Amino acid sequence: MVFKKRYVPFYNPDITISDIVSCLGLKNSPEKLQYELQNFFGIHNVMLTGSGRCALKIALQGLNVSKGDEVILPPFICPSVGDAVLEVGGIPVFGDNDLLSFNMSPESVEEAISDKTKAIVIAHIGGIPARINKFTELSKKYNIPLIEDCAQSFGAKYDGVYTGLHGDLAFISFGISKNINGIGGGALFSQRKPGFLRERELPPSPVISTMKKYFMLFSTPLLFGETSGIFFNDILSKISKNRYEIDNFHDYCKNIQNIEAAIAFRKLHIFTETQKWRNEIATLYRDKLHGKVDFLSIEKRSEPTFLYFPLLLPDNIRVKAMKKKLSESGIQSKDKDEMRYFALWKHKKFENYKHYGENVLDIDERYLLLPLGHTVEITNAICSEIIQNL
Ligand SMILES: Cc1ncc(COP(=O)(O)O)c(C=O)c1O
Repeated sequence: MVFKKRYVPFYNPDITISDIVSCLGLKNSPEKLQYELQNFFGIHNVMLTGSGRCALKIALQGLNVSKGDEVILPPFICPSVGDAVLEVGGIPVFGDNDLLSFNMSPESVEEAISDKTKAIVIAHIGGIPARINKFTELSKKYNIPLIEDCAQSFGAKYDGVYTGLHGDLAFISFGISKNINGIGGGALFSQRKPGFLRERELPPSPVISTMKKYFMLFSTPLLFGETSGIFFNDILSKISKNRYEIDNFHDYCKNIQNIEAAIAFRKLHIFTETQKWRNEIATLYRDKLHGKVDFLSIEKRSEPTFLYFPLLLPDNIRVKAMKKKLSESGIQSKDKDEMRYFALWKHKKFENYKHYGENVLDIDERYLLLPLGHTVEITNAICSEIIQNL
């Protein structure tokens, strides 16, 4: 019971009071953030948005996706991605995951392509790039635009090139659980379609939503603090379980707020260092748990930016039981139910849409996500706790 009084949150947003104070004084944050992102990717057209889902909606509109057009989506994806397709009148069609990387399989996408397919959205879940080369081949072969959902893979590379720069369009998110873990906001970008984003304008955020952001920002140190977090995070996870049901898409389709951009700007500056650390902790998990559990496979040509550490427990171990044991020691982990995006075609809202394969179901009872970004000592203790309970 190493963690009796300690709390290891799944997400570690690491926003301090001093971050908040310095962000409050930052002027022209959206312009600065946009400039920095353009430098990061080496492109000229990054458009900031109020969220990742808003960026996707704009991408779909830009590609003229409208009523009756099909858009192929991964089955293991944030529900808001499906919402963006519905928002423009499109029909979501779900591919399947491959069981090795747990990203969408190109084979299932080829099967799903029809003469109504207007776009393919791929996602690099957990920071692990999908098999991008296969998707770009499909995109060329069938002349269907490829959108990269990089909400979870900011800074990851494939064949030495950033995710987001392989497809026609791409988007990122600055939500609390993302690689640039801010308090919201997103961006759409493209190196293939210059000029595509320039002339679009988004409505400003209403005052109430700005107030919500400030509230969230000020409560972050409390929510994720080592001791206060035990109490507050419990409440938060109960709220967020139902959050998707009460989320209103239109609240997210606004311009980025100054405070969101300020926090994202600050996080972008420390991104390389933070992500290096997360990746080192992922390597430590792999070393310590080698031979005890299974891991997702990662192509040699991929350079992931891990957001959390996914593993597959042995068949005889129940994920819920392991989660409970970890939680008794103060360690927050997640299973597929809490990730909200598992097999989206099973979700009530999407159950009438086609899906091509059910591989995604095979992994469910073994899939466990561990927190990253904590100390070596904590990571070692998490590994011992897992090994003890196998
Ligand atoms: C893979 C993926 N795509 C898209 C989104 C949507 O991003 P946002 O919440 O900024 O709209 C998320 C957020 O959870 C995500 O994880």
